[in-house]
Amino acid sequence: MPKVTFLPSNLSLEIDENTTLREAAHQLEVDVHDRCGGLGACCNCVVTVVDGATAITPKTVVEEAVFYLDPKDRLSCQCRITGDVVVSTL
Ligand code: FES
Repeated sequence: MPKVTFLPSNLSLEIDENTTLREAAHQLEVDVHDRCGGLGACCNCVVTVVDGATAITPKTVVEEAVFYLDPKDRLSCQCRITGDVVVSTL
């Protein structure tokens, strides 16, 4: 099972493949500011991929439409975990 780690808390867990980063954060009680409930509407649930960029699904149409996202930034409700990944909520 893939391992996901959230910084700066350094909380991590092994989780089923294709779980969203948002769902993983909820299991660890990490706040990713997901104000629209994961609908892809608020664009507040941004996390920065520190390691394992290829271990999450490619950017969705919703993410591509958010002009201010850095290439390493992802909307945690839109991407799914496929391998070990480390992300930052800062
Ligand atoms: S929770 Fe609103 S866009 Fe992700």
